Amino acid sequence: MKFFIDTANLDQIRDAQNLGVLDGVTTNPSLMAKEGITGRENILKHYVAICNIVDGDVSAEVIATDYDGMVKEGEELAGLHDQIVVKLPMIKEGVKAAKYFSDKGIKTNVTLVFSAGQALLAAKAGATYVSPFIGRLDDVSTDGLNLIAEIRQIYNNYGFSTQILAASVRHTMHVIDCAKIGADVMTGPLSSIEGLLNHPLTDIGLAKFLADYKKGN
Ligand code: G3P
Repeated sequence: MKFFIDTANLDQIRDAQNLGVLDGVTTNPSLMAKEGITGRENILKHYVAICNIVDGDVSAEVIATDYDGMVKEGEELAGLHDQIVVKLPMIKEGVKAAKYFSDKGIKTNVTLVFSAGQALLAAKAGATYVSPFIGRLDDVSTDGLNLIAEIRQIYNNYGFSTQILAASVRHTMHVIDCAKIGADVMTGPLSSIEGLLNHPLTDIGLAKFLADYKKGN
């Protein structure tokens, strides 16, 4: 299972990278705005800065919602760095653009996916990644993990190579449940990754080992 971090915060990206378990980064316009990154030029520079920190794929989202605009913007983003994945919204024009980029060998991430049907379309269009938003489904009393399971079954049935990127992950149990279901990738905040470290018995056990060592040394 690949671990992506879902942020545009460079310090947090460095922290996750330094932990040695990071496989990539996802961003979106809201995450960019949260870091105060505004203006096209600054946004493009920020993507390059992220690529220079991590080794893996970095999703950069288009703002255009028409096919020509998405293709133009996506090509500009893909040209920034070979780690860039063009992130496209799950709308009709986004599916067409995913097919265009997939035919050109440019990686894509189809985002804002909330149903199995949308995920099937993204796979048919040849998307590299599909991003079902599990946390936002949970927010509206719908089981986000069930969607991951449905997509896993459909992709397995037909051998689709599109990777299931569980997005809108909010906490460690989402990560573990996604791993049990077989999501290829999860993207979440640093806390969802670092939270996996925690167990009180580890802390108690370590304290005892160190105390016992001290007794004899
Ligand atoms: O990866 C998608 C993500 O950025 C949305 O997360 O927590 O805003 O639903 P959230």
